[in-house]
Amino acid sequence: MVDSLTLTRPDDWHLHLRDGVALRAVLPHTARQFARAIVMPNLQPPVTTTALALAYKRRIVEAAPDGARFEPLMTLYLTDRTAPDEIRRAREAGIVAVKLYPAGATTNSDAGVTDIRKTFAALEAMQREGLRLLVHGEVTDPAVDVFDREAVFIERVLDPLRRDFPALKVVFEHITTQDAAQYVAAAGANLAATITAHHLLYNRNALFKGGLRPHWYCLPVLKRETHRQALLRAATSGSPKFFLGTDSAPHAAHLKEQACGCAGCYTALAALELYAQAFDEAGALDRLEGFASFFGADFYGLPRNADRIVLKRETWTLPEALPFGEHVLAPLAGGETLSWRFAGEATS
Ligand code: NCD
Ligand code: ZN
Ligand code: ZN
Repeated sequence: MVDSLTLTRPDDWHLHLRDGVALRAVLPHTARQFARAIVMPNLQPPVTTTALALAYKRRIVEAAPDGARFEPLMTLYLTDRTAPDEIRRAREAGIVAVKLYPAGATTNSDAGVTDIRKTFAALEAMQREGLRLLVHGEVTDPAVDVFDREAVFIERVLDPLRRDFPALKVVFEHITTQDAAQYVAAAGANLAATITAHHLLYNRNALFKGGLRPHWYCLPVLKRETHRQALLRAATSGSPKFFLGTDSAPHAAHLKEQACGCAGCYTALAALELYAQAFDEAGALDRLEGFASFFGADFYGLPRNADRIVLKRETWTLPEALPFGEHVLAPLAGGETLSWRFAGEATS
């Protein structure tokens, strides 16, 4: 049995850091484990311009713990009115990607895209400038069952979009279904996907275990076991099209536990431990490094990290609550026992 794992330091290719006191509460958790993260732009108001993204980046860098070598990779929030000029400015400023939220699909997506055709000039500019398009891939049509929204998005939006912009590099974020895993695997090299730890570890039964479990509620919602198995196969396949993106999405505990609870799971505190658990259970620990540390950097055309980190086999219990400004943050699986523990930078 392997008791220790040494990996090239990983990156998180899908992360919500929020702002202000929330940012200061969560950033140390990510900066401890990861070298870089793709920072989602769904603030209020959303990060729709290069100027807003650069100001947000400064706030993140200022909030980082002393001595942290964490690099935030910034994104723009796509709207019906994003101008091609803004895309050029973004590329010149080192912004790496633009995020498509269908309006109303998820947390802070009200300013998102109402009709993909309204973004064609921006997509054309992104294809030209080499900016990645990141998609929250769910349709918002209320007539479509919530468990089918990702699969329907592929046929209604994603597949036509990829035909219209064949040279655009696209990341299908936080995939949750066998349909998405198969679609990405079969597509050309310009399409990749991120997979969260929670979608690898849990199926939708987790939402109802002994009662309603709001801390397991995220979007896209957890799916049935056949889908979880397909995601595990994709993540552990060794295919460079699938890589780590936690979608760690903090909300104060009381906002998840109320009558209409917020979507988003907080996993950044033990992100690598959760992924290690999933890969270990699948007998694929040897595939974790490619998924966590290589394939994302390769897809973004960025160098792989040079330093290495260590995970040790050790049982420990996740805390049930963390400070979150004047509120409390409840990490996913708080109170449960994990079998791997992050042990910091490798010494040799
Ligand atoms: C995310 C959030 O809270 O910002 N929530 C979630 O359930 N995943 C938004 C998102 O990634 O869709
Ligand atoms: Zn999303
Ligand atoms: Zn997200």
